[in-house]
Formats: sequence, C-alpha cells, structure tokens
Amino acid sequence: MSKLVITGGRRLEGTVRIGGRKNAAIAVLPAAVLATGPSVLENIPDIDDVRTYGEILRQMGADIHRGPEGLVVDPTGFAAVVPQQELVKRLRASYYLVGVLLARFGRAQVPLPGGDEIGLRPIDQHLKGLRALGAEVVIEGGCIRATASQLKGAPIYLDVVSVGATINIMLAASMARGTTVIENAAKESHIVDLANFLNAMGADVRGAGTDAIKIHGVDSLHGCTHAIIPDDIEAATYMIAAAATGGDVLVANVIPKHLDPITAKLREAGVDVQEDGDCLRVRATGRLRAVDIKTLPYPGFPTDAQPPMTTLLSLAAGTSLVTESIWEGRFKHVEELNQMGTAIRVEGRTAIIEGVERLSGAVVRAKDLRAGAALIIAGLAADGVTEVSEVEHVYRGYERIDEKLRGLGARVERVHA
Ligand code: EPU
Repeated sequence: MSKLVITGGRRLEGTVRIGGRKNAAIAVLPAAVLATGPSVLENIPDIDDVRTYGEILRQMGADIHRGPEGLVVDPTGFAAVVPQQELVKRLRASYYLVGVLLARFGRAQVPLPGGDEIGLRPIDQHLKGLRALGAEVVIEGGCIRATASQLKGAPIYLDVVSVGATINIMLAASMARGTTVIENAAKESHIVDLANFLNAMGADVRGAGTDAIKIHGVDSLHGCTHAIIPDDIEAATYMIAAAATGGDVLVANVIPKHLDPITAKLREAGVDVQEDGDCLRVRATGRLRAVDIKTLPYPGFPTDAQPPMTTLLSLAAGTSLVTESIWEGRFKHVEELNQMGTAIRVEGRTAIIEGVERLSGAVVRAKDLRAGAALIIAGLAADGVTEVSEVEHVYRGYERIDEKLRGLGARVERVHA
C-alpha cells in the first residue's frame, strides 16, 4: 500500500510530456499475440496496467521485453492456456483475451475481469458480438468459456456504444471467415489506434472512428512496429491540474484534436488554452466560472476526465452541474472531496457543485483510478497537506505521476507503507 503526500498551494509551471494512451496500449498488447511474429510497440506507457497485461501474456507463453525501440511482443510461444485469475482480476481489459484466443485457437477460457468499481459493467454486448460470429459462449465457474470451430463474419448491431465490446469484436473478427460490420460502434481514438495496428499486421479494418466498422477477415497476421497514440486522459488531467492551481503548463506530445471536449470546457470556464503543434499551453489567472458538463461517448466529454473536472469546478464561482451518463458509480471522489471543503451533492447521476473559494488539506482515499486523480488535483490546489491513500489505483493508469508533478514544481512524495 502506498500514499501520496501533497503540500498544496503551489502553481504548476513548466512542461509535462504525455505518455502513450492507457486504453490503447491495453488493447494493442493482446492484439499483438494474434500475429505469427514479433511486434515492436513504441510509446507504451510506463503504467501498472501494462505491466500486469505483460505478466498475463508471459504466463500464457508470449515473450515480452523492453527493447531499444519499445516493448517487443513475441507471440511465438503463446498458447490457449487459462490466464491466472489473480492477474486477470487486476484489470478490465483482460477480457480482450477472449476475442484473441477465439481468433487464434477457436477456444478461450478467461476468468471474469476486474477493474475499477464504477458501475455494474455488464458484458452482454461482448457476448452478443462473439455469438454473432458463431462462437458458443457461456459464463460458468467465474469464467468466460467460448468455443468456435470457425468464426464467421456477421453484421453486429451494438445496443449500447461500448468501447470494450467494439474492441473485442474487432479482435475476434480480424481472422474470421468473411466480413463483419459493427454498427453503433464506439468511435474513441484508441479504437482507431487499434484498427491502425491491426491493419499494419495485415488485417483489413475500415471505418474505425465512425459508428460503422467493417472487417474483412484474413487468414493470418504478421508482426509490425506501431507507436501508441498519446494519452488524452493523462493530458486532460495535467491541463485541469494546471487550471486548478492557477498555473501555466505546456502539455506536450498530445493530439490537440483528441482534447477538443476538454479544451472547450476549460475555455468556457475562463482558462486560456493555446494550441501549438503537438502541445497545448494552459494558463489560468483569477477565479474560474462555473460550467455544466455531461459525459458522453467520444466525441462527447469523456467520463474518464469527469472526476478531475469535478475538482476544478468545485473551485469555480457559481453552481456547476456535472452529469455522468456512462458509469452509474463514478462519483466516489465526491465524498472524499467534501472532506477537503468542497460543497458538492449528488442527486442521481448529477453532481451539483457550489463553488468554494479554497480547499484545505485532508486525509482522503483514492477509491478508483480517476477518483484518485481528482483527489491529487484537489491536494495540489488546497492549503496545507493532503494525504491520498491507496494510490496503487492511480499508478495503474498514470506513469510516474509524482515525478511528473514535481517537474512542474509541485511538492508531492509517494510514501510506501
Ligand atoms: N455496457 C453495456 N454492455 C456491455 C458493455 C458496456 O451495457 O457489454 C455499458 C456500460 O455499462 C457503460 C457503457 O456501456 O454504461 C460504456 O461502457 P464501455 O464498454 O464503453 O466501457 P469499457 O470498455 O468497460 C472503457 C475504458 C474505461 C472508460 C470507458 C468509456 C478500458 C479498459 N476502459 O471501458 O476507462 O471509462 O471505456 O470511455 O478501455 C479509465 O480509464 O479510467 C476507465 C474506466
């Protein structure tokens, strides 16, 4: 167990370099074992979820090591063994192994995944998609078991827009016989990144980034070199942290377009955001204004940036409404924030935020990854010392966050119990 000890009240200033996108990396990693030869993954983030995924794939026979150019994934020895439950439970994206194992071996047995407790997180759309491709899928004994003598392409309409189901179906369909069309597909930038990676391996995936993705199955895939896109949520977190501390930060190595919803809302609140190539400069002076936010699938405001944004708005003048329409359990940061002096109440799926002038340091708990990010930002902006416990959640998805924040002038230390 570890905690972050933050002495708040310092403006963040300087440059922070953003790493690779977590939710792209943990889709591309299992996709790499679809190939017959090694791939090199550049710009892989240095986060615990990637380490865990690497351990899972290693336990299943793949060789994974850091080379001079990036992470080398050699799937030569990868086999259809059951991944260890303890590892699988550490992250959500472990269910992509079902799509991968079905595509490569026609059978999969994968323990039900873990991940943040931010809602019920059903997987009915994954199962619907895999069944449409001809797989028999059951959930028994805490495992997803799936078999298919030959996956066959099919039209699949998703009843809800799901990032995970879109990815799982893309993985399985990449080597199915015939054509699959996913309608009402997720459009997130990491779906496009995965499609680019699959295509570089020899797959035929078109339309990623729109709500209809067409996949012509191919017989086999080969290794390739691919660079993971920058992490828009990590970038959003530093942009918001800069704004919350009245700072001046250059957020470097981003694709500004992916951050449009964040930039738009920060500007509405009175933050100055300037684009310069692959950098965004974020400056805040004076008190910010309240704004309303509703989380939506891409290109709407991302749910993963909602907790940090809630912290920022707790300091803005006026009343902000934040509506969470993706995850019913994603306001766990609110109870903790209120211990630091925020005035937020939650009614159903909406947080009603009465802006306060200042926050004060407290001992708080990171209940999930983004809730942890929200509390760290609160600690940076607060007077006095904040201790954020259970920050393991945060290191699942933010690379060296204490070090990066110190690089911006923050006083932050990770303390291991
Ligand atoms: N849903 C269903 N049935 C399904 C799948 C999803 O009803 O079969 C519902 C969910 O309950 C939710 C909505 O559809 O209300 C969207 O869920 P989605 O499947 O898109 O989410 P996910 O794939 O489980 C990924 C990210 C999350 C991120 C969401 C939304 C990964 C590993 N996780 O989750 O990231 O919040 O997309 O963008 O890619 C995070 O990084 O902090 C995080 C939680």
